[in-house]
Amino acid sequence: MIKKELLFFEWDSFGIYKEQVISQGYSIISISDFLKDITDDSLYFNIDTANTIVDISVLASGYTDCQALGERLLDKFSEFETIFIADKRFEDRLVKELRYRFLHFNDIKIILPSVTGDKLIEDLPKSNIKSHKKITDLTDAEIEEFCSKFRGQLYGHEKFKDEFHELIKNFKVFNKLGEHKVLSLFLMGESGVGKTEVAKTIYNCLGGKKGLAKINFGNYSSDFSLSSLIGSARGYIGSDDGEIFIRVRNTDVGVILIDEFEKSTATLFNYFLDVLESGKIISSQAEEIDITGFIIVFTSNISKEHFASRISPELRSRFDYKGMFTRLYSEDKKKYMEFRLESITKKYNDCFKDQLPDNLFEVFLNKINVGKFHNMRDLNKKIKRVFVDYISKRAIDEGKAEIAEPSQRRSILRKIADVIS
Ligand SMILES: Nc1ncnc2c1ncn2[C@@H]1O[C@H](COP(=O)(O)OP(=O)(O)OP(=O)(O)O)[C@@H](O)[C@H]1O
Ligand SMILES: [Mg+2]
Repeated sequence: MIKKELLFFEWDSFGIYKEQVISQGYSIISISDFLKDITDDSLYFNIDTANTIVDISVLASGYTDCQALGERLLDKFSEFETIFIADKRFEDRLVKELRYRFLHFNDIKIILPSVTGDKLIEDLPKSNIKSHKKITDLTDAEIEEFCSKFRGQLYGHEKFKDEFHELIKNFKVFNKLGEHKVLSLFLMGESGVGKTEVAKTIYNCLGGKKGLAKINFGNYSSDFSLSSLIGSARGYIGSDDGEIFIRVRNTDVGVILIDEFEKSTATLFNYFLDVLESGKIISSQAEEIDITGFIIVFTSNISKEHFASRISPELRSRFDYKGMFTRLYSEDKKKYMEFRLESITKKYNDCFKDQLPDNLFEVFLNKINVGKFHNMRDLNKKIKRVFVDYISKRAIDEGKAEIAEPSQRRSILRKIADVIS
């Protein structure tokens, strides 16, 4: 018979609980293993039911249809004496949704043996959460400095930059009060106008070194993507990490970029609804990372009309900023060109021990009509092509023998193209 009891564990004491039960011959698995194909009954026969503990936390952390899904899955265990556990943080939801499945809901109590007598697990210190550099850590003066740097590095989109400045100031205040956990931006618009660049620029302006936490939702469009994102426990806890945890753990700045958000599924949308509300990312193994004070940038190529039909009203209303990025003005594209040219020239001068003239920007303004380019990636390619042509012509004009020689020219030009890319 299925045990009619669900046991709750405190996440802080989970490691010790796991050690203890493993030493007694149990293994702990996550219910997410059974979610991959809920019609596949053979999964249940492959587990050693008498010695297995099933963690069902994920039912409450990522799925909207917790009750129906839970009842359906747990019914399959009806002949087994399986022990079910869940993270205490999901107690309210699980007690409510699974009230027909379980008769009793109790806490796991762990007594730690120690030399000074038994010590209750509740007294243990909380685990250390790695610190990220966050916008909410900045002083008011540093926020002003951050914003002026941000304005300088992202071209155009002036209205967005004004609103972003205000949003950050408010976010800092309300975050301190515990009222606003995560700042969320939803950026739509054509390709190559700087949506992704917003997240990169925030990351740079906060002094990031280890790489931006970036997830492309184009890879998460199947029904069971949630387990790739937040992990699924095969066998022992901690054996399988979700991408979002790896990315957040590996970055040093409190910014997450979610590209192509609209490509994903309702389950993931709901997961993020929760993340924005709670300021926590919770894995299927009930590991938790506190992301209070983080900025999440969602980008999408979705049109305004599709935005309403693809993204649920709950989620829509939860974004702190929703905006359509328009094409850049010519002035902004020229600024972009000036900046690119400066960086390319520096690379070239350093590598080839050369000194290009200072008026290069004017030369390029005459050669490239920025009005023809709407995607900055295309403009960048054009700048590079024109640059290589320019160097080639200059060398010939100056009678530089090695580059004037056609057989050598190609390989030298290829080298230049490599250096500046
Ligand atoms: N407003 C901008 N300010 C500075 N650089 C920009 C801007 N817009 C585009 N760029 C440059 O162009 C490149 C492409 O921009 P980005 O990746 O932000 O495009 P996107 O809007 O996210 O497009 P997609 O929808 O194709 O992902 C970036 O590498 C960036 O250097
Ligand atoms: Mg992008």
